[in-house]
Amino acid sequence: MTGDYVLRCVLMLCCALLSANASNWLYLAKLSSVGSIRDEETCERLRGLIQRQVQICKRSVEVMDAVRRGAQLAIDECQFQFRNRRWNCSTLETMPVFGKVITQGTREAAFVYAISAASVAFAVTRACSSGELEKCGCDHNVHGVSPEGFQWSGCSDNIAYGVAFSQSFVDVRERSKGQSSSRALMNLHNNEAGRKAILSHMRVECKCHGVSGSCEVKTCWKAMPPFRKVGNVIKEKFDGATEVEQRKVGSTKILVPRNSQFKPHTDEDLVYLEPSPDFCDFDARTPGMLGTVGRQCNRTSKAIDGCELMCCGRGFQTQEVEVVDRCSCKFHWCCYVKCKQCRKMVEVHTCR
Ligand SMILES: *[C@@H]1O[C@H](CO)[C@@H](O)[C@H](O)[C@H]1NC(C)=O
Ligand SMILES: *[C@@H]1O[C@H](CO)[C@@H](O)[C@H](O)[C@H]1NC(C)=O
Repeated sequence: MTGDYVLRCVLMLCCALLSANASNWLYLAKLSSVGSIRDEETCERLRGLIQRQVQICKRSVEVMDAVRRGAQLAIDECQFQFRNRRWNCSTLETMPVFGKVITQGTREAAFVYAISAASVAFAVTRACSSGELEKCGCDHNVHGVSPEGFQWSGCSDNIAYGVAFSQSFVDVRERSKGQSSSRALMNLHNNEAGRKAILSHMRVECKCHGVSGSCEVKTCWKAMPPFRKVGNVIKEKFDGATEVEQRKVGSTKILVPRNSQFKPHTDEDLVYLEPSPDFCDFDARTPGMLGTVGRQCNRTSKAIDGCELMCCGRGFQTQEVEVVDRCSCKFHWCCYVKCKQCRKMVEVHTCR
């Protein structure tokens, strides 16, 4: 009995170490500010980085605060996109930040890897454009006159730099494993798909110059989409993700759709290896598996945010709560808007 217990503990510890998550660097988001990562020594003390990431940190200390902001951006966007789902992307105070929920090769893991890789590329590129980094600035390859006749000018986002940094920093663990396991292939694919969500939605922003806003001269620059857009794109890819398995072709391994009737996934699609758990119940053995008791649900919706699906058939409770809203807003000349505060009762449904 005790022997069995000890054995189970040892196994659990091994599992915890083996599944040590490739996305542990997201733990950086828990640092209040890496403003304190000003020297190489702090790189050694950061929790959640593997040795190769510590080396990158030392080589690029100035970039690390952008990486931390990227980690926070990824977590915030995940929570926004999943706010109406059973698993709502809650984080823990311990590592890995999402608990054990994403250590399986599920769709949710695919989303987390894609959004994280994208967020680092995004935050680093932003930092380049804002002039806070010595290593990079605006993209000077964008210049001259465009075929449409406008002048490239201003600060074009240097997305190539951000993407390259994300590839080296975020992908390093999978690359060091020699890309052999199917899970490493899955992670690398989804990381790349996340970065593509930015690359394929770059936009051209312009400003007009001339007498009273006439557009005699137009200057334009390349800009990243807002991160919310990136999140929406990756969430759509999550909804249409492809279940894949590993196949050997010659001496290389690739991921192919498990169902051969499906069209093969593209570079921009998300892929996963295992079906997701139902996320219905709290599970003490799986940190991060919170279950849906107490979650708010929508009584009229038939989708996953509806009480039927969200509460997994356990039923729900209804409470009347008072909400205070702005109402009867009037525009006053000139120029402000004055509103009244209205109180109204609304029904709030929560899962049993
Ligand atoms: C997610 O759901 C849990 C309950 O399962 C709740 O405690 C938590 O506040 C929610 N987190 C977010 C970020 O909405
Ligand atoms: C509940 O779901 C219905 C149908 O999907 C939708 O029209 C409504 O806006 C939702 N209500 C809330 C409070 O989200």
